[in-house]
Amino acid sequence: MNRMNSDKLRQLYLKYFEERGHAVIPSASLIPENDPTVLFTTAGMHPLVSYLLGEKHPAGKRLANVQKCVRTGDIDEVGDATHCTFFEMLGNWSLGDYFKEEAIKYSFEFLTSPKYLGIPIERLAVSVFAGDEDAPRDTESAGIWKKHGIPEDRIFYLPKENNWWGPAGVTGPCGPDTEMFVDTGKPKCCPGCSPACSCGKYVEIWNDVFMQYNKTAEGRFEPLKQKNVDTGMGLERTLCILNGVNSVYETDLFEGALKRICELSGKSYGQDEMTDRAIRIIADHVRTATFIIGDQKGITPSNTDQGYVLRRLIRRAVRFGRQIGLKGGSLSAISLAFVEKYQHVYPELKQNEQKIFSELNKEEARFLNTLSHGIKEFEKITSSLKGKTIDGKTAFRLYDTFGFPLEITCEMAKEHGLEVDVEGFKQAFSTHQKISQAGSEQRFKGGLADHTEHTARLHTATHLLQAALRRVLKEDVEQRGSNITVERLRFDFNFGRPLTPEEIRQVEDLVNEQIKRDLPVTCEEMTMEEAKAQGAIGLFASRYGEKVKVYTIGDFSKEICGGPHAKRTGELGTFVIAKEQSSSAGVRRIRAELN
Ligand code: ALA
Repeated sequence: MNRMNSDKLRQLYLKYFEERGHAVIPSASLIPENDPTVLFTTAGMHPLVSYLLGEKHPAGKRLANVQKCVRTGDIDEVGDATHCTFFEMLGNWSLGDYFKEEAIKYSFEFLTSPKYLGIPIERLAVSVFAGDEDAPRDTESAGIWKKHGIPEDRIFYLPKENNWWGPAGVTGPCGPDTEMFVDTGKPKCCPGCSPACSCGKYVEIWNDVFMQYNKTAEGRFEPLKQKNVDTGMGLERTLCILNGVNSVYETDLFEGALKRICELSGKSYGQDEMTDRAIRIIADHVRTATFIIGDQKGITPSNTDQGYVLRRLIRRAVRFGRQIGLKGGSLSAISLAFVEKYQHVYPELKQNEQKIFSELNKEEARFLNTLSHGIKEFEKITSSLKGKTIDGKTAFRLYDTFGFPLEITCEMAKEHGLEVDVEGFKQAFSTHQKISQAGSEQRFKGGLADHTEHTARLHTATHLLQAALRRVLKEDVEQRGSNITVERLRFDFNFGRPLTPEEIRQVEDLVNEQIKRDLPVTCEEMTMEEAKAQGAIGLFASRYGEKVKVYTIGDFSKEICGGPHAKRTGELGTFVIAKEQSSSAGVRRIRAELN
Protein backbone atom coordinates (compact mmCIF):
# COMPACT_ATOMS: atom_id res chain seq x y z
CA MET A 1 0.00 0.00 0.00
CA ASN A 2 1.26 3.46 -0.79
CA ARG A 3 1.72 5.60 2.28
CA MET A 4 0.74 9.23 1.73
CA ASN A 5 -0.53 12.34 3.46
CA SER A 6 -3.89 14.07 3.00
CA ASP A 7 -2.68 16.55 0.37
CA LYS A 8 -1.24 13.77 -1.75
CA LEU A 9 -4.42 11.69 -1.52
CA ARG A 10 -6.70 14.57 -2.55
CA GLN A 11 -4.43 15.48 -5.46
CA LEU A 12 -4.01 11.91 -6.65
CA TYR A 13 -7.75 11.29 -6.59
CA LEU A 14 -8.75 14.44 -8.43
CA LYS A 15 -5.99 14.05 -11.01
CA TYR A 16 -7.01 10.45 -11.69
CA PHE A 17 -10.58 11.46 -12.47
CA GLU A 18 -9.62 14.65 -14.29
CA GLU A 19 -7.51 12.55 -16.66
CA ARG A 20 -10.61 10.47 -17.32
CA GLY A 21 -12.78 13.37 -18.42
CA HIS A 22 -14.18 14.54 -15.05
CA ALA A 23 -14.55 18.23 -14.26
CA VAL A 24 -13.24 18.99 -10.78
CA ILE A 25 -15.86 21.06 -8.94
CA PRO A 26 -15.35 22.92 -5.65
CA SER A 27 -16.68 21.70 -2.34
CA ALA A 28 -20.16 23.09 -1.72
CA SER A 29 -21.23 24.66 1.58
CA LEU A 30 -21.83 22.49 4.63
CA ILE A 31 -25.33 23.94 4.78
CA PRO A 32 -27.62 22.26 2.25
CA GLU A 33 -29.23 24.62 -0.25
CA ASN A 34 -32.61 23.12 -0.92
CA ASP A 35 -33.20 20.34 1.56
CA PRO A 36 -35.04 21.27 4.74
CA THR A 37 -34.99 17.63 5.88
CA VAL A 38 -31.30 17.63 6.85
CA LEU A 39 -29.19 20.16 8.72
CA PHE A 40 -25.82 19.54 7.08
CA THR A 41 -24.32 18.27 3.85
CA THR A 42 -23.69 14.63 4.65
CA ALA A 43 -22.27 13.37 1.34
CA GLY A 44 -20.75 14.62 -1.88
CA MET A 45 -23.97 13.88 -3.78
CA HIS A 46 -26.06 16.12 -1.57
CA PRO A 47 -25.35 19.41 -3.38
CA LEU A 48 -25.83 17.55 -6.70
CA VAL A 49 -29.33 16.23 -6.11
CA SER A 50 -31.02 18.30 -8.82
CA TYR A 51 -28.44 17.12 -11.39
CA LEU A 52 -28.90 13.51 -10.37
CA LEU A 53 -32.62 14.05 -10.96
CA GLY A 54 -31.95 15.18 -14.54
CA GLU A 55 -31.05 18.86 -14.62
CA LYS A 56 -28.01 19.73 -16.75
CA HIS A 57 -24.82 20.48 -14.81
CA PRO A 58 -22.83 23.39 -16.30
CA ALA A 59 -19.52 21.50 -15.92
CA GLY A 60 -20.73 18.42 -17.80
CA LYS A 61 -21.72 14.82 -17.14
CA ARG A 62 -18.56 13.68 -15.36
CA LEU A 63 -17.67 15.38 -12.10
CA ALA A 64 -15.29 14.84 -9.20
CA ASN A 65 -14.54 16.69 -5.99
CA VAL A 66 -13.64 16.63 -2.33
CA GLN A 67 -16.68 17.61 -0.29
CA LYS A 68 -16.83 18.85 3.28
CA CYS A 69 -19.38 16.79 5.23
CA VAL A 70 -20.84 16.80 8.73
CA ARG A 71 -22.66 13.87 10.30
CA THR A 72 -23.70 14.37 13.89
CA GLY A 73 -26.02 11.38 14.31
CA ASP A 74 -23.67 9.93 16.91
CA ILE A 75 -22.06 13.01 18.37
CA ASP A 76 -22.06 11.35 21.78
CA GLU A 77 -20.02 8.41 20.50
CA VAL A 78 -17.18 10.56 19.19
CA GLY A 79 -13.99 10.01 21.06
CA ASP A 80 -13.29 6.44 20.03
CA ALA A 81 -10.72 5.76 17.34
CA THR A 82 -12.93 6.07 14.27
CA HIS A 83 -15.92 8.36 14.72
CA CYS A 84 -15.66 11.93 13.46
CA THR A 85 -18.40 14.54 13.17
CA PHE A 86 -16.64 16.23 10.24
CA PHE A 87 -15.01 14.44 7.34
CA GLU A 88 -14.05 14.95 3.73
CA MET A 89 -15.54 12.78 1.01
CA LEU A 90 -13.71 12.10 -2.22
CA GLY A 91 -16.33 11.54 -4.92
CA ASN A 92 -16.80 11.03 -8.62
CA TRP A 93 -20.08 11.23 -10.52
CA SER A 94 -21.57 10.18 -13.78
CA LEU A 95 -24.73 12.15 -14.54
CA GLY A 96 -26.39 9.83 -17.04
CA ASP A 97 -23.01 9.03 -18.61
CA TYR A 98 -21.02 5.88 -17.65
CA PHE A 99 -22.57 3.23 -15.41
CA LYS A 100 -21.51 0.04 -13.62
CA GLU A 101 -18.83 -1.22 -16.00
CA GLU A 102 -16.72 1.94 -15.96
CA ALA A 103 -17.45 2.98 -12.39
CA ILE A 104 -16.14 -0.33 -11.07
CA LYS A 105 -13.18 -0.27 -13.47
CA TYR A 106 -12.14 3.18 -12.17
CA SER A 107 -12.57 2.18 -8.54
CA PHE A 108 -10.63 -1.03 -9.03
CA GLU A 109 -7.76 0.66 -10.86
CA PHE A 110 -7.46 3.55 -8.39
CA LEU A 111 -7.47 1.21 -5.39
CA THR A 112 -5.07 -1.44 -6.68
CA SER A 113 -2.69 0.15 -9.22
CA PRO A 114 0.80 0.81 -7.81
CA LYS A 115 0.54 4.24 -9.46
CA TYR A 116 -2.33 5.13 -7.15
CA LEU A 117 -3.20 3.52 -3.80
CA GLY A 118 -1.47 0.20 -4.44
CA ILE A 119 -3.78 -1.93 -2.26
CA PRO A 120 -3.02 -5.64 -2.96
CA ILE A 121 -5.96 -7.34 -4.73
CA GLU A 122 -5.94 -10.14 -2.17
CA ARG A 123 -6.71 -7.59 0.56
CA LEU A 124 -9.89 -6.38 -1.21
CA ALA A 125 -13.43 -7.63 -0.59
CA VAL A 126 -16.62 -6.22 -2.10
CA SER A 127 -20.33 -6.36 -1.48
CA VAL A 128 -23.19 -6.06 -3.97
CA PHE A 129 -26.96 -5.69 -3.61
CA ALA A 130 -28.78 -8.99 -2.94
CA GLY A 131 -32.04 -7.80 -4.58
CA ASP A 132 -35.59 -7.26 -3.32
CA GLU A 133 -38.96 -5.97 -4.53
CA ASP A 134 -37.51 -2.52 -5.31
CA ALA A 135 -34.49 -3.54 -7.42
CA PRO A 136 -33.03 -6.80 -8.79
CA ARG A 137 -30.03 -8.79 -7.49
CA ASP A 138 -26.90 -7.11 -8.78
CA THR A 139 -25.23 -9.99 -10.58
CA GLU A 140 -23.96 -7.49 -13.14
CA SER A 141 -21.66 -5.73 -10.64
CA ALA A 142 -20.54 -9.07 -9.22
CA GLY A 143 -19.60 -10.19 -12.76
CA ILE A 144 -17.54 -7.04 -13.33
CA TRP A 145 -15.63 -7.53 -10.06
CA LYS A 146 -14.90 -11.16 -11.03
CA LYS A 147 -13.54 -10.00 -14.37
CA HIS A 148 -11.07 -7.80 -12.50
CA GLY A 149 -9.89 -10.74 -10.45
CA ILE A 150 -11.92 -10.57 -7.23
CA PRO A 151 -12.74 -14.21 -6.37
CA GLU A 152 -16.29 -15.31 -5.67
CA ASP A 153 -15.67 -15.90 -1.96
CA ARG A 154 -14.80 -12.23 -1.49
CA ILE A 155 -17.97 -10.95 -3.18
CA PHE A 156 -20.79 -10.68 -0.66
CA TYR A 157 -24.47 -10.27 -1.58
CA LEU A 158 -26.11 -8.12 1.09
CA PRO A 159 -29.62 -6.73 1.60
CA LYS A 160 -30.93 -3.17 1.45
CA GLU A 161 -29.87 -2.50 5.00
CA ASN A 162 -26.23 -2.73 3.88
CA ASN A 163 -26.16 -2.25 0.14
CA TRP A 164 -28.51 0.55 -0.68
CA TRP A 165 -27.60 4.20 -0.39
CA GLY A 166 -29.75 7.26 -0.02
CA PRO A 167 -31.65 9.38 -0.18
CA ALA A 168 -29.57 11.86 1.78
CA GLY A 169 -32.69 13.33 3.39
CA VAL A 170 -36.20 11.92 3.37
CA THR A 171 -36.74 11.97 -0.38
CA GLY A 172 -34.50 12.05 -3.46
CA PRO A 173 -32.13 9.98 -5.57
CA CYS A 174 -30.90 6.64 -4.27
CA GLY A 175 -30.06 3.15 -5.42
CA PRO A 176 -28.21 -0.12 -4.87
CA ASP A 177 -24.50 0.14 -4.27
CA THR A 178 -21.34 -1.88 -4.36
CA GLU A 179 -18.97 -1.29 -1.47
CA MET A 180 -15.25 -1.95 -1.27
CA PHE A 181 -13.49 -3.16 1.87
CA VAL A 182 -9.94 -3.77 2.95
CA ASP A 183 -9.48 -7.03 4.82
CA THR A 184 -7.48 -6.31 7.97
CA GLY A 185 -6.31 -9.92 8.14
CA LYS A 186 -8.15 -10.57 11.42
CA PRO A 187 -9.67 -14.08 11.63
CA LYS A 188 -13.33 -14.49 10.66
CA CYS A 189 -15.54 -13.86 13.67
CA CYS A 190 -17.96 -16.65 12.67
CA PRO A 191 -18.55 -18.96 9.68
CA GLY A 192 -20.86 -16.37 8.09
CA CYS A 193 -18.44 -13.46 8.73
CA SER A 194 -18.94 -10.74 6.12
CA PRO A 195 -18.47 -6.98 5.69
CA ALA A 196 -21.90 -6.66 7.31
CA CYS A 197 -20.40 -7.77 10.67
CA SER A 198 -19.17 -5.25 13.13
CA CYS A 199 -16.21 -7.45 14.12
CA GLY A 200 -13.74 -5.16 12.38
CA LYS A 201 -12.25 -7.70 9.96
CA TYR A 202 -13.41 -5.64 6.98
CA VAL A 203 -12.98 -1.86 6.82
CA GLU A 204 -15.03 0.00 4.24
CA ILE A 205 -13.01 2.21 1.95
CA TRP A 206 -15.26 3.23 -0.96
CA ASN A 207 -18.84 3.11 -2.06
CA ASP A 208 -20.14 3.18 -5.65
CA VAL A 209 -23.85 3.92 -5.71
CA PHE A 210 -25.87 3.21 -8.82
CA MET A 211 -28.43 5.94 -8.47
CA GLN A 212 -31.33 5.13 -10.67
CA TYR A 213 -34.30 5.59 -8.33
CA ASN A 214 -36.03 8.53 -6.73
CA LYS A 215 -37.63 7.90 -3.34
CA THR A 216 -40.89 9.81 -3.08
CA ALA A 217 -42.47 11.27 0.05
CA GLU A 218 -44.87 8.29 0.02
CA GLY A 219 -41.91 5.90 0.18
CA ARG A 220 -42.10 4.67 -3.43
CA PHE A 221 -38.97 4.06 -5.53
CA GLU A 222 -39.53 5.55 -8.98
CA PRO A 223 -37.02 4.84 -11.76
CA LEU A 224 -35.06 7.95 -12.74
CA LYS A 225 -34.81 9.29 -16.29
CA GLN A 226 -31.04 8.94 -16.17
CA LYS A 227 -28.79 6.31 -14.66
CA ASN A 228 -26.18 7.94 -12.43
CA VAL A 229 -23.11 6.90 -10.55
CA ASP A 230 -22.37 8.51 -7.17
CA THR A 231 -19.28 7.43 -5.30
CA GLY A 232 -17.82 8.30 -1.95
CA MET A 233 -14.48 7.56 -0.30
CA GLY A 234 -13.77 8.91 3.17
CA LEU A 235 -10.50 10.79 3.16
CA GLU A 236 -9.69 10.23 6.84
CA ARG A 237 -10.42 6.53 6.82
CA THR A 238 -8.47 5.93 3.63
CA LEU A 239 -5.47 7.70 5.14
CA CYS A 240 -5.67 5.39 8.15
CA ILE A 241 -5.69 2.30 5.98
CA LEU A 242 -2.85 3.41 3.71
CA ASN A 243 -0.61 4.54 6.55
CA GLY A 244 -1.37 1.59 8.79
CA VAL A 245 -2.59 3.70 11.71
CA ASN A 246 -5.57 2.80 13.85
CA SER A 247 -7.16 6.15 14.27
CA VAL A 248 -7.91 9.25 12.23
CA TYR A 249 -6.30 11.22 15.06
CA GLU A 250 -2.95 9.72 14.08
CA THR A 251 -3.12 11.11 10.54
CA ASP A 252 -1.44 14.34 9.43
CA LEU A 253 -4.84 16.09 9.56
CA PHE A 254 -4.82 16.14 13.37
CA GLU A 255 -1.12 16.41 14.05
CA GLY A 256 -1.01 20.19 14.65
CA ALA A 257 -4.21 20.29 16.69
CA LEU A 258 -3.19 17.42 18.96
CA LYS A 259 0.15 19.08 19.57
CA ARG A 260 -1.61 22.35 20.44
CA ILE A 261 -4.03 20.61 22.85
CA CYS A 262 -1.13 18.90 24.61
CA GLU A 263 0.84 22.13 24.90
CA LEU A 264 -2.13 24.05 26.28
CA SER A 265 -3.15 21.37 28.77
CA GLY A 266 0.28 20.09 29.72
CA LYS A 267 -0.93 16.55 28.99
CA SER A 268 0.53 14.05 26.53
CA TYR A 269 -1.32 11.90 24.04
CA GLY A 270 -0.97 8.12 24.24
CA GLN A 271 -0.36 7.83 28.00
CA ASP A 272 -3.77 7.31 29.46
CA GLU A 273 -7.05 6.29 27.82
CA MET A 274 -9.29 8.82 29.62
CA THR A 275 -7.06 11.71 28.63
CA ASP A 276 -6.72 10.43 25.06
CA ARG A 277 -10.49 10.24 24.73
CA ALA A 278 -10.90 13.82 25.95
CA ILE A 279 -8.18 15.02 23.56
CA ARG A 280 -9.87 13.25 20.62
CA ILE A 281 -13.27 14.70 21.47
CA ILE A 282 -11.87 18.22 21.75
CA ALA A 283 -9.97 17.85 18.47
CA ASP A 284 -12.97 16.48 16.61
CA HIS A 285 -15.45 19.04 17.93
CA VAL A 286 -13.18 22.02 17.41
CA ARG A 287 -12.45 20.91 13.85
CA THR A 288 -16.17 20.58 13.07
CA ALA A 289 -17.00 23.89 14.75
CA THR A 290 -14.20 25.58 12.78
CA PHE A 291 -15.66 24.34 9.51
CA ILE A 292 -19.27 25.21 10.43
CA ILE A 293 -18.49 28.77 11.55
CA GLY A 294 -15.92 29.27 8.78
CA ASP A 295 -18.23 27.92 6.07
CA GLN A 296 -19.19 30.07 3.10
CA LYS A 297 -22.65 30.22 4.74
CA GLY A 298 -21.20 30.43 8.23
CA ILE A 299 -23.41 29.56 11.16
CA THR A 300 -23.12 30.91 14.70
CA PRO A 301 -24.15 29.18 17.94
CA SER A 302 -27.86 29.42 18.79
CA ASN A 303 -30.68 27.33 20.20
CA THR A 304 -32.06 26.08 16.91
CA ASP A 305 -31.05 23.87 13.99
CA GLN A 306 -27.43 24.03 12.85
CA GLY A 307 -26.65 26.67 15.45
CA TYR A 308 -27.76 24.29 18.17
CA VAL A 309 -25.59 21.44 16.91
CA LEU A 310 -22.69 23.88 16.81
CA ARG A 311 -23.43 25.01 20.35
CA ARG A 312 -23.47 21.40 21.59
CA LEU A 313 -20.17 20.67 19.88
CA ILE A 314 -18.47 23.70 21.40
CA ARG A 315 -19.89 23.14 24.87
CA ARG A 316 -18.91 19.48 24.79
CA ALA A 317 -15.38 20.51 23.81
CA VAL A 318 -15.30 22.97 26.73
CA ARG A 319 -16.52 20.27 29.08
CA PHE A 320 -13.79 17.81 28.07
CA GLY A 321 -11.29 20.65 28.00
CA ARG A 322 -11.94 21.31 31.68
CA GLN A 323 -11.22 17.64 32.39
CA ILE A 324 -7.69 17.90 31.03
CA GLY A 325 -7.01 21.39 32.33
CA LEU A 326 -7.62 23.62 29.30
CA LYS A 327 -8.24 27.26 30.15
CA GLY A 328 -10.64 29.77 28.56
CA GLY A 329 -9.48 30.85 25.10
CA SER A 330 -8.06 27.41 24.28
CA LEU A 331 -10.63 26.49 21.66
CA SER A 332 -9.68 29.32 19.34
CA ALA A 333 -6.01 28.46 19.79
CA ILE A 334 -6.74 24.87 18.78
CA SER A 335 -8.90 26.07 15.92
CA LEU A 336 -5.95 28.03 14.56
CA ALA A 337 -4.12 24.74 14.03
CA PHE A 338 -6.98 23.58 11.78
CA VAL A 339 -7.16 26.86 9.88
CA GLU A 340 -3.43 26.53 9.21
CA LYS A 341 -3.76 22.90 8.17
CA TYR A 342 -6.72 23.34 5.82
CA GLN A 343 -6.57 26.89 4.45
CA HIS A 344 -4.97 25.94 1.12
CA VAL A 345 -7.83 23.51 0.44
CA TYR A 346 -10.65 25.56 1.98
CA PRO A 347 -9.73 29.26 1.65
CA GLU A 348 -12.99 30.25 3.36
CA LEU A 349 -11.42 29.22 6.67
CA LYS A 350 -8.69 31.81 6.33
CA GLN A 351 -11.19 34.44 5.12
CA ASN A 352 -13.43 33.83 8.12
CA GLU A 353 -10.64 33.26 10.61
CA GLN A 354 -11.53 36.18 12.89
CA LYS A 355 -15.18 35.21 12.97
CA ILE A 356 -14.29 31.61 13.82
CA PHE A 357 -12.07 32.61 16.73
CA SER A 358 -14.44 35.22 18.11
CA GLU A 359 -17.49 32.92 17.96
CA LEU A 360 -15.55 30.15 19.66
CA ASN A 361 -14.34 32.53 22.35
CA LYS A 362 -17.82 33.98 22.90
CA GLU A 363 -19.53 30.63 23.18
CA GLU A 364 -16.79 29.28 25.42
CA ALA A 365 -17.16 32.32 27.70
CA ARG A 366 -20.95 32.00 27.79
CA PHE A 367 -20.73 28.38 28.77
CA LEU A 368 -18.05 28.99 31.39
CA ASN A 369 -20.30 31.70 32.81
CA THR A 370 -23.23 29.29 32.92
CA LEU A 371 -21.00 26.76 34.61
CA SER A 372 -19.85 29.21 37.26
CA HIS A 373 -23.48 29.99 38.19
CA GLY A 374 -24.12 26.28 38.36
CA ILE A 375 -21.07 25.69 40.52
CA LYS A 376 -22.28 28.30 43.02
CA GLU A 377 -25.67 26.65 43.16
CA PHE A 378 -24.04 23.23 43.48
CA GLU A 379 -22.12 24.46 46.49
CA LYS A 380 -25.28 25.84 48.07
CA ILE A 381 -26.98 22.49 47.55
CA THR A 382 -24.14 20.43 48.98
CA SER A 383 -23.71 22.64 52.03
CA SER A 384 -27.28 21.90 53.12
CA LEU A 385 -27.37 18.30 51.89
CA LYS A 386 -28.45 15.60 54.29
CA GLY A 387 -26.91 12.24 53.39
CA LYS A 388 -24.61 11.38 50.54
CA THR A 389 -26.90 11.52 47.49
CA ILE A 390 -28.01 14.46 45.38
CA ASP A 391 -31.55 13.55 44.41
CA GLY A 392 -32.73 13.46 40.79
CA LYS A 393 -34.98 16.49 41.05
CA THR A 394 -32.15 18.65 42.36
CA ALA A 395 -29.78 17.44 39.66
CA PHE A 396 -32.47 18.22 37.12
CA ARG A 397 -32.98 21.71 38.52
CA LEU A 398 -29.26 22.36 38.12
CA TYR A 399 -29.55 21.24 34.53
CA ASP A 400 -32.79 22.97 33.65
CA THR A 401 -32.39 26.24 35.50
CA PHE A 402 -28.63 26.68 35.39
CA GLY A 403 -27.78 24.82 32.16
CA PHE A 404 -25.48 22.64 34.26
CA PRO A 405 -24.84 19.36 32.42
CA LEU A 406 -25.52 16.15 34.36
CA GLU A 407 -21.98 14.90 33.66
CA ILE A 408 -20.59 17.89 35.52
CA THR A 409 -22.95 17.42 38.45
CA CYS A 410 -21.75 13.80 38.65
CA GLU A 411 -18.12 14.81 38.29
CA MET A 412 -18.35 17.41 41.05
CA ALA A 413 -20.37 15.10 43.27
CA LYS A 414 -17.58 12.55 42.99
CA GLU A 415 -15.01 15.13 43.98
CA HIS A 416 -17.09 15.85 47.09
CA GLY A 417 -17.48 12.15 47.90
CA LEU A 418 -21.18 12.30 46.95
CA GLU A 419 -23.45 10.45 44.54
CA VAL A 420 -26.14 11.57 42.12
CA ASP A 421 -29.44 9.79 41.62
CA VAL A 422 -29.06 9.52 37.83
CA GLU A 423 -32.25 7.45 37.46
CA GLY A 424 -34.18 10.13 39.34
CA PHE A 425 -32.67 12.73 37.02
CA LYS A 426 -33.86 10.79 33.98
CA GLN A 427 -37.34 10.56 35.44
CA ALA A 428 -37.46 14.29 36.17
CA PHE A 429 -36.17 14.90 32.67
CA SER A 430 -38.85 12.85 30.97
CA THR A 431 -41.62 14.33 33.13
CA HIS A 432 -40.37 17.75 32.12
CA GLN A 433 -40.32 16.77 28.45
CA LYS A 434 -43.94 15.70 28.66
CA ILE A 435 -44.86 18.99 30.28
CA SER A 436 -42.97 21.05 27.76
CA GLN A 437 -44.45 19.08 24.88
CA ALA A 438 -47.86 19.95 26.25
CA GLY A 439 -46.46 23.46 26.54
CA SER A 440 -45.47 23.63 22.92
CA GLU A 441 -48.94 22.62 21.87
CA GLN A 442 -50.18 25.49 24.01
CA ARG A 443 -47.65 27.87 22.55
CA PHE A 444 -49.60 28.24 19.36
CA LYS A 445 -52.44 29.61 21.38
CA GLY A 446 -50.13 32.54 21.85
CA GLY A 447 -48.79 34.91 24.42
CA LEU A 448 -47.77 33.52 27.73
CA ALA A 449 -49.67 30.27 27.61
CA ASP A 450 -46.35 28.44 27.61
CA HIS A 451 -45.26 28.73 31.19
CA THR A 452 -42.04 26.82 30.96
CA GLU A 453 -39.20 28.09 33.03
CA HIS A 454 -37.22 29.24 30.06
CA THR A 455 -39.97 31.46 28.74
CA ALA A 456 -40.38 32.89 32.24
CA ARG A 457 -36.69 33.76 32.15
CA LEU A 458 -37.06 35.38 28.73
CA HIS A 459 -39.97 37.34 30.11
CA THR A 460 -37.83 38.66 32.95
CA ALA A 461 -35.13 39.46 30.39
CA THR A 462 -37.70 41.51 28.46
CA HIS A 463 -38.27 43.68 31.54
CA LEU A 464 -34.52 44.11 31.98
CA LEU A 465 -34.22 44.99 28.31
CA GLN A 466 -36.89 47.66 28.46
CA ALA A 467 -35.33 49.21 31.57
CA ALA A 468 -31.87 49.09 29.96
CA LEU A 469 -33.15 50.72 26.75
CA ARG A 470 -34.65 53.53 28.81
CA ARG A 471 -31.30 54.12 30.47
CA VAL A 472 -29.13 53.85 27.34
CA LEU A 473 -31.42 55.61 24.85
CA LYS A 474 -33.93 57.84 26.56
CA GLU A 475 -36.51 57.66 29.28
CA ASP A 476 -39.58 57.68 27.06
CA VAL A 477 -38.79 54.45 25.23
CA GLU A 478 -41.93 52.39 25.52
CA GLN A 479 -43.00 48.92 24.63
CA ARG A 480 -44.95 48.62 21.38
CA GLY A 481 -45.13 44.86 21.31
CA SER A 482 -43.62 41.75 22.82
CA ASN A 483 -43.52 38.13 21.77
CA ILE A 484 -41.75 35.25 23.46
CA THR A 485 -41.04 31.74 22.20
CA VAL A 486 -38.92 29.13 23.94
CA GLU A 487 -35.96 30.22 21.87
CA ARG A 488 -36.02 34.01 22.03
CA LEU A 489 -37.72 37.19 23.01
CA ARG A 490 -38.88 39.86 20.57
CA PHE A 491 -39.40 43.37 21.77
CA ASP A 492 -40.78 46.32 19.78
CA PHE A 493 -40.38 49.88 21.03
CA ASN A 494 -40.72 53.47 19.85
CA PHE A 495 -37.43 54.88 18.61
CA GLY A 496 -36.69 56.80 15.43
CA ARG A 497 -33.40 55.38 14.18
CA PRO A 498 -31.31 52.19 14.20
CA LEU A 499 -29.28 51.62 17.36
CA THR A 500 -25.52 51.99 16.96
CA PRO A 501 -23.37 48.92 17.65
CA GLU A 502 -22.07 50.73 20.71
CA GLU A 503 -25.62 51.28 22.04
CA ILE A 504 -26.48 47.63 21.43
CA ARG A 505 -23.41 46.60 23.37
CA GLN A 506 -24.25 48.97 26.20
CA VAL A 507 -27.77 47.58 26.45
CA GLU A 508 -26.46 44.00 26.45
CA ASP A 509 -23.86 44.84 29.09
CA LEU A 510 -26.37 46.62 31.28
CA VAL A 511 -28.75 43.65 31.19
CA ASN A 512 -25.93 41.20 31.87
CA GLU A 513 -24.77 43.29 34.77
CA GLN A 514 -28.22 42.95 36.38
CA ILE A 515 -28.08 39.20 35.77
CA LYS A 516 -24.70 39.01 37.49
CA ARG A 517 -26.09 40.98 40.46
CA ASP A 518 -28.58 38.11 40.91
CA LEU A 519 -31.40 40.53 41.80
CA PRO A 520 -34.61 39.17 43.31
CA VAL A 521 -37.77 39.40 41.21
CA THR A 522 -40.76 40.19 43.39
CA CYS A 523 -44.44 40.61 42.68
CA GLU A 524 -47.08 42.71 44.40
CA GLU A 525 -50.72 43.38 43.68
CA MET A 526 -51.95 46.96 43.80
CA THR A 527 -54.30 49.36 42.09
CA MET A 528 -53.38 50.98 38.83
CA GLU A 529 -53.06 54.34 40.59
CA GLU A 530 -50.67 52.98 43.21
CA ALA A 531 -48.59 51.37 40.51
CA LYS A 532 -48.34 54.63 38.60
CA ALA A 533 -47.47 56.48 41.77
CA GLN A 534 -44.61 54.04 42.41
CA GLY A 535 -43.26 54.78 38.92
CA ALA A 536 -44.11 51.40 37.44
CA ILE A 537 -44.03 51.30 33.66
CA GLY A 538 -46.17 49.04 31.54
CA LEU A 539 -49.26 48.97 29.45
CA PHE A 540 -51.78 50.88 31.50
CA ALA A 541 -54.63 49.32 29.63
CA SER A 542 -58.03 48.51 31.07
CA ARG A 543 -57.57 44.83 30.30
CA TYR A 544 -55.41 44.61 33.40
CA GLY A 545 -58.50 45.40 35.47
CA GLU A 546 -58.63 47.39 38.65
CA LYS A 547 -55.92 45.57 40.53
CA VAL A 548 -52.66 44.95 38.71
CA LYS A 549 -49.56 42.89 39.38
CA VAL A 550 -46.34 44.84 39.60
CA TYR A 551 -43.06 42.99 39.10
CA THR A 552 -40.01 44.59 40.64
CA ILE A 553 -36.48 43.53 39.73
CA GLY A 554 -34.18 44.81 42.48
CA ASP A 555 -33.63 48.54 42.01
CA PHE A 556 -33.56 48.22 38.23
CA SER A 557 -37.08 47.73 36.95
CA LYS A 558 -40.70 48.05 38.02
CA GLU A 559 -43.30 47.02 35.55
CA ILE A 560 -46.97 46.15 35.44
CA CYS A 561 -47.30 42.68 34.04
CA GLY A 562 -49.16 39.40 34.26
CA GLY A 563 -46.04 37.24 34.74
CA PRO A 564 -44.74 34.63 35.15
CA HIS A 565 -41.12 35.48 35.87
CA ALA A 566 -37.88 34.00 37.05
CA LYS A 567 -37.28 34.19 40.79
CA ARG A 568 -33.87 35.82 40.52
CA THR A 569 -31.98 37.36 37.63
CA GLY A 570 -29.06 35.01 38.29
CA GLU A 571 -31.09 32.25 36.62
CA LEU A 572 -31.03 34.01 33.27
CA GLY A 573 -27.62 32.99 31.90
CA THR A 574 -26.19 35.35 29.30
CA PHE A 575 -28.29 37.90 27.46
CA VAL A 576 -27.43 38.34 23.78
CA ILE A 577 -29.08 40.65 21.27
CA ALA A 578 -29.30 38.62 18.07
CA LYS A 579 -30.85 41.30 15.86
CA GLU A 580 -31.93 44.94 15.85
CA GLN A 581 -34.08 46.08 12.97
CA SER A 582 -36.95 48.28 11.92
CA SER A 583 -40.45 47.03 12.71
CA SER A 584 -42.49 49.90 11.29
CA ALA A 585 -42.17 53.70 11.06
CA GLY A 586 -40.71 54.94 14.34
CA VAL A 587 -40.69 51.47 15.85
CA ARG A 588 -37.59 49.29 16.30
CA ARG A 589 -37.52 45.54 16.93
CA ILE A 590 -34.98 43.62 19.00
CA ARG A 591 -34.61 39.87 19.07
CA ALA A 592 -32.59 38.52 21.93
CA GLU A 593 -31.69 35.18 23.46
CA LEU A 594 -30.57 33.82 26.80
CA ASN A 595 -27.69 31.42 26.52
N1 ALA B 1 -23.29 8.91 -1.32
C1 ALA B 1 -22.55 7.73 -1.05
C2 ALA B 1 -22.05 7.63 0.35
O1 ALA B 1 -22.15 8.57 1.10
C3 ALA B 1 -21.45 7.56 -2.02
O2 ALA B 1 -21.55 6.60 0.75
